[in-house]
Amino acid sequence: MDRIEARNRIEELRRLLEENSRRYYVDNAPTISDFEFDTLMHELESLEAAYPEFDSPDSPTHKVGSDLDAPLEGNAEPLARTGFVQRRHRYPMLSLGNTYSISEIEEFTSRAERTLDGARFSYSCELKFDGTAICLTYRGGRLVQALTRGDGVWGDDVTENALRISNIPRQLHGDYPEEFEIRGEVLMPYEAFDALNREREDNEDPPFANPRNAASGSLKLVDPEEVAHRGLICTLYHIPAESVTFASHWEALDAAARWGLPVSDKRRLCHDIGEIREYIDYWDRQRKFLPFATDGIVIKINELDCQRTLGYTAKFPRWAVAFKFKAEQACTRLVSIDYQVGRTGAVTPVANLEPVQLSGTVVRRATLNNADIMEQMDIRTGDYVFVEKGGEIIPKITGVDLSKREAGAVRPEFPRNCPDCGTPLVKSPDEARWFCPNQDGCPMQIKGRLLHFTSRRAMDILAGEVTVEQLYELGLARRPSDLYKLSKWQLSSLEGWKDRAAQRFLDSLAESRKVPFERVLFAMGIRYVGETTAKAVARHFGNIDALAAASKEDLLQVDDIGEVIASSILDFMHDPVQQEEIARLREAGLQFSTDGGGAALSSALEGKTIVISGNFSISRDAMKELIAAHGGKTSSSVSGKTAFLLAGTKPGPEKLSKCEKLGVPVVSEEEFRKMLPEGGGAREGVTELTLF
Ligand code: IVH
Repeated sequence: MDRIEARNRIEELRRLLEENSRRYYVDNAPTISDFEFDTLMHELESLEAAYPEFDSPDSPTHKVGSDLDAPLEGNAEPLARTGFVQRRHRYPMLSLGNTYSISEIEEFTSRAERTLDGARFSYSCELKFDGTAICLTYRGGRLVQALTRGDGVWGDDVTENALRISNIPRQLHGDYPEEFEIRGEVLMPYEAFDALNREREDNEDPPFANPRNAASGSLKLVDPEEVAHRGLICTLYHIPAESVTFASHWEALDAAARWGLPVSDKRRLCHDIGEIREYIDYWDRQRKFLPFATDGIVIKINELDCQRTLGYTAKFPRWAVAFKFKAEQACTRLVSIDYQVGRTGAVTPVANLEPVQLSGTVVRRATLNNADIMEQMDIRTGDYVFVEKGGEIIPKITGVDLSKREAGAVRPEFPRNCPDCGTPLVKSPDEARWFCPNQDGCPMQIKGRLLHFTSRRAMDILAGEVTVEQLYELGLARRPSDLYKLSKWQLSSLEGWKDRAAQRFLDSLAESRKVPFERVLFAMGIRYVGETTAKAVARHFGNIDALAAASKEDLLQVDDIGEVIASSILDFMHDPVQQEEIARLREAGLQFSTDGGGAALSSALEGKTIVISGNFSISRDAMKELIAAHGGKTSSSVSGKTAFLLAGTKPGPEKLSKCEKLGVPVVSEEEFRKMLPEGGGAREGVTELTLF
């Protein structure tokens, strides 16, 4: 790899890691497995080590993943978008260095021995609980604050919710210190997880992919009474050494248990790598029998003075490391293969399996991804296959146990025609998947699009798979706009529908008229336009007419939009079928502009394209919203069309020199606020406007 290739790969890895970190921590809906995520992170670490000139303090290798909605800047204490107040952690909440290799654990222990140079010390080995981190503060023995990890510096205040977790004590007993912090993990045991997902499926809500996402989503519920019903539990594993005066971590945890706090009894004090290995091997086998999810082992130097000597990097303590277990695998028989057609027409092979237990749940179906992968595996019906759970809800088949193949096992044939509508499938050379091109007539695609449109993250209309199927079968809905024409009378006559269900459905339709433009854009189902892209596009263009008039060059100006997405948006906006549908949805009263709902404050920046760079007194996203609210547009790169560069502290030097070259003015935040009526609003006013 040469320097240029390395720089490009570094950029790509940062983008991938940031996107997936957001999916994991903010959306609670990861799409890649932890192993895949960690592998990308390790690749980035080694590239940055090999090419230090491309290293940057902003790289995900130096930052703790954030579960906050928007990155925070400055020292203010704004309200989170989720409605939680964000508070600064007294001691930063760091992550842990991790590895999948036992030899790296050996390196960790030898490094510690070398640095601690003859000091006697031990290792506290613990389970690595797979939930969501929490930091509790007790004052006078009472729980006074609970914060999520957030971005490690600021966390969401979830005290009211933590008080509803059954094993978190409100009041301690015994000889507890006057004030201290203790950290741990909130978990959802498998039993509660299964019950919750059953309930969600009954309500036609999307199920959670795994107990970790369910725990994290539940801890951030707005209604504390609802949290009480989620069956969450907590286990505590760390008291910051600055907070107490114990000689060792072990003593601190034993004391915490005496005060009534939930501390795991699965810990073991080890003295050398041999004992650590035994502990790892034991729990790698036994963890299947635990009632909650674990994803590894944490090894901590036990003596607090040794911990102080070893210290911290920007992201991790040097006195602890996590050994992560590879995703659990199960082996079972492949009974048959279904070919499912998604809303974009992509055909996915899905394996029907002999039911098998995997990470606490029974697996009956798993994805085979695409025809190429089936071919590479040379899979046959009747084979014994390995199944793994990745980040997604659907487990995947990772290989075939050839030693168990029976003679005469039949090679499955990938269909040439759409399994739903019979249209011959097509495949473009740069795609691994086959597609049904019958977009307007294929029932699976039509139903898939309706379902995507109604989904919670899109229009949030009370219609899941069963309802969409009913409406489709009766010819009541083909396109999203049909939903807005349904009458109470039509709905009440559906099988199993009662008046109340019809009214609830109609209420949710009415509510959906207020859904902001960015989600409407996402709901329209433009290929490759996920939530993040839809948000960026909505912010950039402000309304559907500007988007419809955009050229490819205009689209390429939007952050993170490349050739493929730009072409897909252009095709969609120029398709007469889509144009008609947009007109119908508009007529139905949906939001097709970001300034709907009276958000526009003035037209002071009308017609101006502004590039922002550096840090401001508000977050960069809030600044973009402020510009849009005054009629301006933002762009990521300086060009002849740029009205001015809005420069905060530490603006990018490349942007500054480009401005100088092109004669583009550079404006400070103070000067910028003067351009707005009444100075752009007080800081609090802006926060209120932009965060809700
Ligand atoms: S100690 C300063 N111990 O794993 C280090 N963390 O991937 C404090 N975790 O952020 C963390 N089980 O949320 C520690 N027994 C355990 C743990 C544990 C799970 C989580 C924790 C951490 C993450 C890192």
